[in-house]
Amino acid sequence: MKKIFKINKLTGMEDYFIKNGFVVIRGLYNKSKVKSLEKLIKNLNIKYSRFKNKFDAQAFSIASHRIFEKNDLYEYFYKNKNLITILKKFLGNDIVLINFSRFQINLKKDKNINSKQIRDEKKFQQFKGIHNDHWTGSSEFSLHYWMPFSGVDTKNSMIMYPGSHLNGSYPVLNREISPNIEFKYHEHNLNYLKNGDVVLFHSLTLHKTAGKSNKTRMAEIARFANLNYRISNQEKDLGFKTLTVSPMRKVLRTIGNDFLTPFRTYGGVAGIDRVVKEVYNNTDPDKLSEKLYNLLKK
Ligand SMILES: [Fe+2]
Repeated sequence: MKKIFKINKLTGMEDYFIKNGFVVIRGLYNKSKVKSLEKLIKNLNIKYSRFKNKFDAQAFSIASHRIFEKNDLYEYFYKNKNLITILKKFLGNDIVLINFSRFQINLKKDKNINSKQIRDEKKFQQFKGIHNDHWTGSSEFSLHYWMPFSGVDTKNSMIMYPGSHLNGSYPVLNREISPNIEFKYHEHNLNYLKNGDVVLFHSLTLHKTAGKSNKTRMAEIARFANLNYRISNQEKDLGFKTLTVSPMRKVLRTIGNDFLTPFRTYGGVAGIDRVVKEVYNNTDPDKLSEKLYNLLKK
């Protein structure tokens, strides 16, 4: 059951996912970049400690994520070639990152943690019981991503219920699994994860927070979808960022519009506007503008 797919040895990954509803991938990101992300958040946490009385932990998770999104590291993590290669194996070639990816912060076991804090953690989605993400508006075609990047150990990781996605969406009663049904799934504790490992899972796979340890564990949560599959209404509302586009859509963009207006560029140049070129070039933004951007932002 326990299986870690190394980035350079992904044989069998798709079959494992179909059967179990999740996969663990190691070595996708450069270790130093994972460390940089950890450092970024740790520094923000130090600043946050001055205001802790006034702002709850979820406010910190949202605010610090906004800062991450504006950092160059964000591009590294999401426009990452390794990541896109793997996502293509699950989703095909037209992949989007649904907006509002976020941090999940599982605070360390601390005798000073009071019951209000624990209640808040549960309420604010930082510590979760058994659920699937389909319950909260994800499409059956969205692929979920969980990447611990700080403090993950044998106790504070995530528990998966392998195969639970193959029975459809588990019945829910007031945000918890229905107590009227005998729970037949067995847990699989991802207690072997290292910082920077990526867990990809189906939106129907049941999972939960494993528990607490003496370390605060931070993770990044996201979901990906394919533009040609069903995207749920909630996902449409949140919006998305396009990560990769197939040749078929590139042709359409070059023609210019969905009506295929005849001869729109006949005798001239059929091309893609420079301002959106990075979407169609997949990972490379316009080089000259990027250079200027870096000069201007200094
Ligand atoms: Fe979840």
